[in-house]
Amino acid sequence: MNLPPMTHRGNDGLQVEDVSLREVATRFGTPCYVYSKAALTQAYREFSAAFAGRDVMICYAVKANSNLAILGLFAKLGAGFDIVSEGELARVLAAGGDPRKVVFSGVGKRAEEMRAALAHNILCFNVESQSELLRLSGVAREMGVRAAISLRVNPDVDPKTHPYIATGLKQNKFGVAFEDALALYRTASDLPSIDVIGIDCHIGSQITEIAPFGDALEKVLQLVDQLEREGIALHHLDLGGGIGIRYKDEQPIQIKHYAETLKGILASRSQQLIFEPGRCFVGNAGLLLTQVEYIKQGGNRRFAIVDAAMNDLIRPALYEAYHEIVAVAPGANDESAQYDIVGPVCESGDFLGRDRDLCIEPGDLVAVLSAGAYGSVMSSNYNTRPRAAEVMIDGATIHLIRSRERVADLYAGEHLLP
Ligand code: LLP
Repeated sequence: MNLPPMTHRGNDGLQVEDVSLREVATRFGTPCYVYSKAALTQAYREFSAAFAGRDVMICYAVKANSNLAILGLFAKLGAGFDIVSEGELARVLAAGGDPRKVVFSGVGKRAEEMRAALAHNILCFNVESQSELLRLSGVAREMGVRAAISLRVNPDVDPKTHPYIATGLKQNKFGVAFEDALALYRTASDLPSIDVIGIDCHIGSQITEIAPFGDALEKVLQLVDQLEREGIALHHLDLGGGIGIRYKDEQPIQIKHYAETLKGILASRSQQLIFEPGRCFVGNAGLLLTQVEYIKQGGNRRFAIVDAAMNDLIRPALYEAYHEIVAVAPGANDESAQYDIVGPVCESGDFLGRDRDLCIEPGDLVAVLSAGAYGSVMSSNYNTRPRAAEVMIDGATIHLIRSRERVADLYAGEHLLP
């Protein structure tokens, strides 16, 4: 099995950079999300290097992992941010991100979210419908400012990914239907307080084939040309995110190949390019560390009950997503057996992996790999479980980047009846 970058076996079992996961568990407890600063940095730099020579802005998709330390790291590396809520904007600002490098995506922006984003003079709103466009124009006019926009067009291209994370098909709720986009651009360019500056397209997530990206881009360019003929010149093309990573045996798109393909199609175009990568920056840079509590035989299945659960990492339950699970250190039990790795939550859907061959016994640590994207951000307090601690490893140093929640915090905002 290929371990993710910066993760390897050392004398004390599995380690991330120069720190053993055993040490992390001893100091910070389990379950715990563990990230590698070097892996995050490397993923960002690989992407930006692949587009060297073009005017590119990388707007990291905050939703993939919005921890302040991660946002702050990307901000320092020069990233902009793709946000989908006022809350994400607040995080970006708190982490030192530049609002002039923020694009605002999402189908349901509320008026107050628009106000907050306009007050911070963000770069661009990715508008997804006529009603949103009219609302934005009204809000900007009231505030006496101008709103810069792209229309997010839905190119009706099949990204060949899980149906829950495909977004660029006709039947999806996202974007403006391709055939309606031209008319809406005309409307936008006549509206008060709106500046049309770009076009945007995001077709889905965990995409492992290059063709859908090329197909979507070709369609976007048809529209760009039509718009130009009508005197609507665009400053940037936002090509969204969606690049898949390896969880098991996928052959993900090489970033270099992705960049070369797009640069080829765009050779004669001078617009700035914007990207919104999320998963490919953080997915393989994080893991979820958990401890085996019990081993239990139930009928013909053997369960390893661990202290992480679907509330910590919901991807297996929600998408039947596969995450590699490995024992951190060889324990006393050197006999391998097949386990379903399950959590303590009262749901049969509460599993992290099924039919995994592991040498484990109660007390052993296991790591759920490739959990950096859509892991902690999708966690919940179901079963009144405090959210896990999160740490970032930098060489031999462990930084606590999120304290484990305390039970009392979980109901601090609740009120008994008088
Ligand atoms: N831009 C927009 C407008 C998006 O909706 C998304 C992801 C991205 C960028 C980033 O896509 P990425 O590069 O990460 O693929 N919870 C699911 C994934 C949901 C993706 C939602 N949108 C999962 O755990 O697989």
